[in-house]
Amino acid sequence: MALLGVQSLIYGVDDLEAASRFYDDFGLAATRRDAAVVEYTLEDGASVVLRRNDDPALPARFTSAPGVREVIWGVDTSAALEALGASLAADRKVTRDADGTLHTTDASGIAIGFRVFARKPLEAVTSTENAPGQVRRWNEHRRWVRRAQPRCMNHVVFGVPDVDAAATFYRERLGFRVTDVSRGLGVFLRCDGRAEHHSIFFLKTGIVSWHHVAFAVQNIDEVMVGADHMQRCGWKSDLGVGRHRISSSVFYYVNNPAGGMSEYSADTDYLTDAWQPRLWEPKFGNWHWVGKVPDAFMNEPDWDVSIIDDPTRPFAELSAGAPAAKPMNNG
Ligand SMILES: [Fe+2]
Repeated sequence: MALLGVQSLIYGVDDLEAASRFYDDFGLAATRRDAAVVEYTLEDGASVVLRRNDDPALPARFTSAPGVREVIWGVDTSAALEALGASLAADRKVTRDADGTLHTTDASGIAIGFRVFARKPLEAVTSTENAPGQVRRWNEHRRWVRRAQPRCMNHVVFGVPDVDAAATFYRERLGFRVTDVSRGLGVFLRCDGRAEHHSIFFLKTGIVSWHHVAFAVQNIDEVMVGADHMQRCGWKSDLGVGRHRISSSVFYYVNNPAGGMSEYSADTDYLTDAWQPRLWEPKFGNWHWVGKVPDAFMNEPDWDVSIIDDPTRPFAELSAGAPAAKPMNNG
């Protein structure tokens, strides 16, 4: 079995007009737009679906705030879909649509689904960097774009009270790999059919909540073009442009009227099963600022990252400072 990432991200929204204006401005291409539904399709065939909060087609709410109501994960074959459905039905209710899509809930009560996904390959676009002693472009400026064009979804993020229960379900029942742990903050996991650093991140919070989705764009220039355009359209960002040390990706998060945030992401790490998960001090691992350094980061955080000796070690134990890890010289 391979899970090929998020095949469809389904929102229930308070204001369909505002939510669709946001994703139009963000750079997604609408492939359906009517009074009840707006749907966007990405280059790899994955979709973002906006429905009104009271649409009976949506599953039951798992949180009171507006946001994502269901995550449909893509499965590579129908045999794998059937096997997964049979295995999940052992201890939870699994329902099936006429088109074969399976629906159930994860360990946190979040609505999830599965359907066969013929994920389209992404076209390679070369962007070359110059550096002292390493000139890759002579007599040629960078390739500029007018708008960000998100190409695929890299990951989704939910807040959950029990990070270990959430992560264990995805690891043991859905075949996800733990890729990194942020001490006290949460666990990053990658599904087996994708190489981006994480497909889902569980953030430790008091209640189950929707947090954000990350869309991959080509490079840092496109993150900046997207950030410029979203600001000109009046959309707000609390964090600005920066880079995560965990995953290496450049980010720009925008507050989304559909709920939570939507992130432009560029230059993420791609991993194989040879990757060894790291344990990160959260301030050091999560943020490296490109623009103005926030007041809380004016004291440089400790360079604190180590290799986790066993990816099944509980988040709670790792967060308590157990000697679970081998220090890395990363400075
Ligand atoms: Fe993210």
